[in-house]
Amino acid sequence: MITTDVNLAAHWLKQEQVIGLPTETVYGLAGNIYSEKAIRTIFDLKKRPLTNPLIVHVGSKAQVSDLAESVPEAATRLMDAFWPGPLTVLLPKKDSVPDLVTAGNDTVALRMPNHPSALELLRVLPFPLAAPSANPFGSISPTTAQHVADYFSEALPVVLEGGSCPNGIESTIVGFEDGKPTVYRLGSIAWEEVEAVAGPLQFKFHDDNKPQAPGMMSKHYAPKTRLLVVDAIEAALEIHRDKKVGLLLFNAQKTSETVAHQEILSVSNNLKEAGANLYAALHRLDALGLDFIIAEKLPSTHLGNSINDRLQRASYV
Ligand code: TXA
Ligand code: MG
Repeated sequence: MITTDVNLAAHWLKQEQVIGLPTETVYGLAGNIYSEKAIRTIFDLKKRPLTNPLIVHVGSKAQVSDLAESVPEAATRLMDAFWPGPLTVLLPKKDSVPDLVTAGNDTVALRMPNHPSALELLRVLPFPLAAPSANPFGSISPTTAQHVADYFSEALPVVLEGGSCPNGIESTIVGFEDGKPTVYRLGSIAWEEVEAVAGPLQFKFHDDNKPQAPGMMSKHYAPKTRLLVVDAIEAALEIHRDKKVGLLLFNAQKTSETVAHQEILSVSNNLKEAGANLYAALHRLDALGLDFIIAEKLPSTHLGNSINDRLQRASYV
């Protein structure tokens, strides 16, 4: 069921089936945006509320004009700077984009992924692909084909094998409110990089469960094991010394007899590498039957902000 055959994946998508899609951020559950059957299957498999819209993936910039009614100048600059890549733009949608995909919003979320298999697939298909992350609603996102197979085993005809996702954190989502660039989700492109291209930003990602920012639920990306995010690991370990604890650390191990397992995100202090390793480390920690995962907050700059955002949501109870 895991395959490297792009044409086989295309075959199933043309049959209105849903497949596992590799991207540079996380794996997606992909279907034809114009197939109501495929889109309903995506929502059903994820157990995702129909109020939470899907990102539409395209294989070229030329496709934007088929889907968006208009494109603000700042959006054009962002797409030129970051596509193909982990930047999603919210644009006024054309009537031809099904309301089911956008959950009734008048904007459509568009992105051109920077992954060779995803691009090859998108370019052989006569339609764009809607693809949310390939995890059940609220749980840890998948960064390998095996993660997708573990979540959805029999339900998918194929998962397209594309290796471990090199970014490992979802795309950064940017919209334009009265022309002002607005970040809805921190992601694989640091907001500082977005600002350098689009100008001063506003941020709107703290709304909980509000229809206008449906993806920004507080609890998200979460392991089953209780996760604590702390500034000082030693103090937290002291409090929980009689518990079975695993650590998620930025760049160095701790010396401790009470810790059951430690995951280091980047020994070389590299935030991109830390992002690439984050979800796989959480998946491993979650499989150990721990009482707690204690995670160290990363430096609050660039991708450190995006990783801290995911840790915060994973820790929310
Ligand atoms: O990196 C990514 O973006 C991955 C890969 C597979 O491309 N996809 C992903 O999709 O993270 P998902 O569904 O897990 O997150 C998409 C987010 C959701 O929070 C959703 O609410 C928001 O995008 N979104 C999609 N369309 C929107 C719209 N029209 N208006 C506002 N938010 C939108
Ligand atoms: Mg997701």
